[in-house]
Amino acid sequence: MCGIVGYIGDKEAYPIIINGLKRLEYRGYDSAGVAIVDKRTKIYKKKGKVNELEKLVYNKDVSGNIGIGHTRWATHGEPNDVNAHPHTSENGHFTVIHNGIIENYSRLKKRLEDRGYNFVSKTDTEVLANLIEFIYIKGKGEIDAEQAVRLALSKVIGAYGIVIIAKDEPDKLIAARKGSPLVIGIGEGEYFIASDATPIIEHTDSVIYLNNDNVAVIKKDQLTLKTIGNDKREPLIQKLSMDIGSIEKNGYDHFMLKEIFEQPKSITDTFRGRIAADLSEIRLGGLHEVMPKLENAKRILIIACGTSWHAGLVAEYLIETIARIPVEVEYGSEFRYRKPIIYKDDVIIAISQSGETADTLAAINIAKEAGATVVGICNVVGSSIPRETHAGVYTHAGPEIGVASTKAFTAQVTVLTMIAILLGKNNNKISEKKYLEYIKELTDIPSKVEEILKSDSLIKEISALYKNASNFLYLGRGYLFPVALEGALKLKEISYIHAEGYPAAEMKHGPIALIDENMPVVVIATQDNSYDKIVSNIQEVKARNGKVIAIVTEGDTVIKDLADHVIEVPKSHEAIAPLLTVIPLQLLSYHIAVMRDCNVDQPRNLAKSVTVE
Ligand code: M6R
Repeated sequence: MCGIVGYIGDKEAYPIIINGLKRLEYRGYDSAGVAIVDKRTKIYKKKGKVNELEKLVYNKDVSGNIGIGHTRWATHGEPNDVNAHPHTSENGHFTVIHNGIIENYSRLKKRLEDRGYNFVSKTDTEVLANLIEFIYIKGKGEIDAEQAVRLALSKVIGAYGIVIIAKDEPDKLIAARKGSPLVIGIGEGEYFIASDATPIIEHTDSVIYLNNDNVAVIKKDQLTLKTIGNDKREPLIQKLSMDIGSIEKNGYDHFMLKEIFEQPKSITDTFRGRIAADLSEIRLGGLHEVMPKLENAKRILIIACGTSWHAGLVAEYLIETIARIPVEVEYGSEFRYRKPIIYKDDVIIAISQSGETADTLAAINIAKEAGATVVGICNVVGSSIPRETHAGVYTHAGPEIGVASTKAFTAQVTVLTMIAILLGKNNNKISEKKYLEYIKELTDIPSKVEEILKSDSLIKEISALYKNASNFLYLGRGYLFPVALEGALKLKEISYIHAEGYPAAEMKHGPIALIDENMPVVVIATQDNSYDKIVSNIQEVKARNGKVIAIVTEGDTVIKDLADHVIEVPKSHEAIAPLLTVIPLQLLSYHIAVMRDCNVDQPRNLAKSVTVE
């Protein structure tokens, strides 16, 4: 949560920072602010989105070649102008932007108050700014800004990505990281700093990902890297492979719509190079070393949050059915605090689009400490989870900017399907013939998704009929139960309509009481082993006058006669069906949210990566 941008070089800093903030706005949009260094440090900050900040700054002096900017997702202190970043220490020595949480901030604040410090905001960041200043002033000229920062950080418990301006050393920026990501872009006589690479890619493709405990002192033509404990570190320069088009809307009204329509390509990118051209085998290079552990695992534990957790649930069905290895799926937030039993021969699969989700990261560390092998499935290259895990597979879906996850989900399920098929084959749980059939099914997915996307206008018409509903129920069985959960989550988060996902058979144990003529029920009812049973569930809904929107296999005539609306998807093996059936649900939630005038890409109260617990 929160986006951070910094610039130091010969160019005007403000336009670079404001553009960077727009790219990072998906990380939080409660307030935005900038600090630009010229002869003095000029600070502007405003509640609301980056465009509110732009209005405030219009016609004001923003000249200067060094600057920092921040877009906030509020943790400590309500979203208002005062709590917006940057925060300056009481005597003006340090100006700080921060992503993360200082957990011991109230203790530190109390100590600073006892020593005469006053606070204007309710934020933990102002405490950090004042702590650095207190140490700096106490050093009586014996310590420089960098030392003060390192000493202050050694007293801090929590997570941070920070960038700091020091009034007495105006030719540098100081950046530090623990837990919250920071990337530094290297230009010609200039550096760019950001929470992720999206603001950097238009300037340079050479980057350094800061590691935990790193402190970087950045001048326009020099960067030095140390640990908080003052040990020197050699910066590892890496090349970005992202292209600028992937972070633009490219003519779509919203990033979410673009990302839904990108799925034929993103799914292809996910299996590109991993399925042999003659469809004879799956190769997952990133798992090569841990494959024997996976094959012999007594149990696989999947850890994730939100949509990634739903992908994990699909994997439970896939891996148990195809590879016959027991699987448990856990929320990171529950796993980390419930004293889980972890065996050394367990394999943990952590799934995360951003690779930065705090609860998933914490769960990974617990599993590692217990001696288990941890595999990551992440989308953002160079993010924290791939760095913390023993092995992994990138989903290669490309940047996902819309807060509601769409293409990342289908990419995760694609990877998990490949893993299940490979394990099934290696453990002799499926025949060579079946293995080849699954591979073929998987490679047919992009063209089938293309077909489903042609139903967009039909789905829009259906959306118009139900846009004012107060509740929705989503039902699915087997592989399609997690899809029901995912459909409900998509609707909730972007349209603010209450929605529940249920295994269809569970309906009669409670939710059926909700059904009346005002209740739209989305039933995912493609032709598989439980088809007859889900047809009965549809009848149960209709008998109570509920409105049924059914996702069916093309050519289905039985459900067509029962349901109020049908949306067809091409025929596929039931194990592959989640990748198809989720697409109409993404479009349904998108259109309903647009018709309700909701901010689809930046839904209220949410942020793209949840880097706080
Ligand atoms: O980056 P991650 O996949 O770890 O994020 C997990 C959840 O925060 C995320 O999936 C969230 O639920 C999305 N907003 C859902 O659309």
